[in-house]
Amino acid sequence: MTFKEVIYSRRAVNFFDPDKAIPPALLNEMIETAARAPSGFNIQPWSLIVLNEQADKLRLQKHAWDQPKVSEAPVTLIVLADTEGWQPGNTFLEKNFNELVGSGAMAMEQREWFDNACASLYGASEARKVAFACKNAGFFAMSLMLAAKSLGLDTHPMDGFDIDAVRAEFKIPDNFWIPLLLSVGYFKSDKELMPPKWRKSVEEITVRFDQ
Ligand SMILES: Cc1cc2nc3c(=O)[nH]c(=O)nc-3n(C[C@H](O)[C@H](O)[C@H](O)COP(=O)(O)O)c2cc1C
Repeated sequence: MTFKEVIYSRRAVNFFDPDKAIPPALLNEMIETAARAPSGFNIQPWSLIVLNEQADKLRLQKHAWDQPKVSEAPVTLIVLADTEGWQPGNTFLEKNFNELVGSGAMAMEQREWFDNACASLYGASEARKVAFACKNAGFFAMSLMLAAKSLGLDTHPMDGFDIDAVRAEFKIPDNFWIPLLLSVGYFKSDKELMPPKWRKSVEEITVRFDQ
């Protein structure tokens, strides 16, 4: 598949074949491929809860507008965005700083500058923290959808769910925002895909406010 074929054939599919499981190696490949997504300072403030047990998916579905695809898909992912991922002491922040120093991209003496830059860019307010977490996790989620398509899998992103209820149900710590759920599987062959949806034109997308 060319990149354009992947982009144009990815759809939010409503019907998954509940009898067609995703081979674990394929799911791993999808996640590993998506993990090439970029992130600010390469902090990668994303995590996934992988639900493939029917009972778990049903626990999620009851807080997700009872959308049947949550449990019909062989796998539904809870995408997590760490609003505190930029904080000194965070496991991956520390790993990342060590990698930056190890690769020569940064010197140990730049640690204070690095911490201050992260705090002012990502931690200046609650809104900034959520923006930091969700923009990066959003790139990751988009990569998951495209990686899935390129591997012959279909997906459906959802923000139709009760974030507080999902947090409580799966004991998700407060530092995580939940930008979306993502069902993954195989399109049910006896169902029909809706025609492609409209998109804004280039003219509608490009704007200026200073003229
Ligand atoms: C962040 C996000 C949340 C969405 N939430 C839902 C949802 O809860 N339920 C649903 O049926 N579709 C949901 N969608 C699917 C969109 O309606 C769909 O992507 C859009 O209409 C474009 O269709 P396409 O993805 O097939 O091109 C969501 C999509 C995104 C990106």
